[in-house]
Amino acid sequence: MPVLRLDCTRCDRRYEPGPVLNVCTACGAPLFARYDLERAAKNMRPGHLALREPTLWRYDDVLPVDNPDYRVSLGEGFTPLLTARRLGSLMGLPRLFIKDESGEPTGSFKARGLSLAVSMAKALGATDVCLPSAGNAGSALAAYAAKGGLKAHVFVPKDIAPLFLMETRAYGAEVETVDGLITDAGKICAERAKENGWYECATLKEPYRIEGKKTMGYEVAEQMGWKLPDAILYPTGGGTGLIGMWKAFREMEEMGYLGPGRPRMYAIQAEGCAPIVKAFTEGLEAAPMWENAQTLAHGIRVPKALGDFLILRALRESHGSAVAVSDAEIIQGVKDASANEGIFMAPEGGACVAALRKLKANGHLSADDTVVVFNTGTGFKYVENMAPLWGKAAARR
Ligand SMILES: Cc1ncc(COP(=O)(O)O)c(C=O)c1O
Repeated sequence: MPVLRLDCTRCDRRYEPGPVLNVCTACGAPLFARYDLERAAKNMRPGHLALREPTLWRYDDVLPVDNPDYRVSLGEGFTPLLTARRLGSLMGLPRLFIKDESGEPTGSFKARGLSLAVSMAKALGATDVCLPSAGNAGSALAAYAAKGGLKAHVFVPKDIAPLFLMETRAYGAEVETVDGLITDAGKICAERAKENGWYECATLKEPYRIEGKKTMGYEVAEQMGWKLPDAILYPTGGGTGLIGMWKAFREMEEMGYLGPGRPRMYAIQAEGCAPIVKAFTEGLEAAPMWENAQTLAHGIRVPKALGDFLILRALRESHGSAVAVSDAEIIQGVKDASANEGIFMAPEGGACVAALRKLKANGHLSADDTVVVFNTGTGFKYVENMAPLWGKAAARR
């Protein structure tokens, strides 16, 4: 299914698909791909999906890669939606589910977006792709670039865990460490991309990564029998997954798969880097830069997000909220998920588990709610990040 057009998410600009486009040339906001959903609905009826391949490509009617020759895939997507009875009973939430992304290629949900971004880069004739990363996006870009025969350039903060460097370089990527945070790495990456004519895959700076991430929304709907949960907790850095799922729900409603009801969306951040929580609480439409960002959960150590206004809009439209948890609570969350559900989560997933307790205590979540928590990656790559606080928390069963 080819993309029909690219719409600016802030102003009225619309663009023809095809040429390499990053953000809106008029206002700098991210672009969203739009499809012929009437046609997609005819091909992709829920009953027919059961026969399709168990990857995110089962939804290819609403994905931008129309020529399968350009599809760069490592088997991403269609991850398990696990019942979490023991963790749920610990939290007083008997209808708790974990959408577990830890088994994705390269160990995180970044595989989804980067499969799509690299496929489209290839389709658009790029030879070199680049992005700034906290770790997981860089290794995913590098792996998909290797598979697709493209050269990857990755810019990372210099305090990144060494395992990410080893892995990303093993896939053949050129990795540059930067003194600072992901936003600093992003500035250097953008300069180099301009100088060298590389295809930039930074979060929401090209319109296709989000198309991969939105499949999490399709999967949750399909795996729950085309009903959505009451609440979704998502660890939010750049927010692509949250914004992507919100887009997916609207597409599914337009295709007649879902009614107008939506889950309450909860953005989970770390106390040491909580720009969305602050902006949400203060009623702002965008989130100012967070100074001195600090957390061991590097994927959510994002002091400024290009799509901040889209995240905040989704939280408000869904009657959800934004919650910050401390690093100690994050470790406790990882331990609780490990001891009760057998999942050694990335700290970003642990942040969502920790937030369950807070949201239950403040009345946002109740025992009647069906709740989906996202574990966005494996904890194995974060051993060094978690080690200093690890001994201080005991697992609760
Ligand atoms: C494991 C993990 N979870 C969550 C995030 C945040 O994702 P997003 O940018 O979609 O908010 C990242 C980003 O690096 C990550 O690596």
